[in-house]
Amino acid sequence: MSLTSFGEGPVACPRPKVTTHSIQEKKLRGEPITCMTAYDYATSRLVDEAGIDMVLVGDSLAQVVLGYDNTLPVTMEEMLHHTRAVRRAVKSAMVIADMPFGAYQGDIQEGVRNAVRFVKESGAEAVKMEGGQKRVELVRRVLDTEVPVMGHIGLTPQSLHRMGGYRVQGKDLSGIEQLMKDAVALDRAGVFCMVLEGLPREVAAMITNEVSVPTIGIGAGPECGGQVLVFHDILNLTFGPPAKFVRRYADASALISNALRRFKTDVETRSYPSDEESYHLPKETREAFEAIQLRKQLKVKSY
Ligand code: KIV
Repeated sequence: MSLTSFGEGPVACPRPKVTTHSIQEKKLRGEPITCMTAYDYATSRLVDEAGIDMVLVGDSLAQVVLGYDNTLPVTMEEMLHHTRAVRRAVKSAMVIADMPFGAYQGDIQEGVRNAVRFVKESGAEAVKMEGGQKRVELVRRVLDTEVPVMGHIGLTPQSLHRMGGYRVQGKDLSGIEQLMKDAVALDRAGVFCMVLEGLPREVAAMITNEVSVPTIGIGAGPECGGQVLVFHDILNLTFGPPAKFVRRYADASALISNALRRFKTDVETRSYPSDEESYHLPKETREAFEAIQLRKQLKVKSY
């Protein structure tokens, strides 16, 4: 929220809507761009109200919300369902939906149809897709339908099996050359920004300087135009050791566990709910009710 004065004193007003345009302007002004994943109403409201620029409904949903081992099983229907919830919560941030594995890698027509579905059926304002040079044709076709595209290169989790695991990319000269070709190809194809994931800092910095659009890093060092992290990672809600690049800003796991244990104890010791936490009858009804109960007791006694 920003504060604006209207004579009577400061009045809170929502920040301006974030758009592809304002994201690109941030790059021109040299201002870092913030992006956070979110997958439901409550958490994406918090992300938006914290003033984060972009909310990414990432396919990391598969792991951090749905409990799969990797991102591959999540479906279009599941992504649409969660994007709708996010859309209902977010007022100012830009909402980007991640195209799930299988929704765009095969047939271009199908990829275009699925990108349009995100805008039409869930209210997303852009889609993200993994891959560089090989995605150029699809990026162009999706842009023809007026849907903005966020690129994603480097460690692309949907290529898990081809990569032979989650490995930092661009560690040798041929890998760096391919990454540069991918970044330039996406830039020319018209993406409005691109995620650089799991790259040596030096390589991400070089790509950031080379392309015209903002780069959004995750495990790609501080020179990127912005940073994205996974909501559950920064709050210790992932039940495992974090990756090197994750900074834990809070321990929501401990906070939530503690609250749940206290609830259990309070119920088991009958200290929850208290009288103050209970509803009561209005005075007249209570008196009539007590009189009926009294009569019932007397009747029972007269048998
Ligand atoms: O799915 C996801 O969360 C992502 C980001 C981490 C970039 O793709």
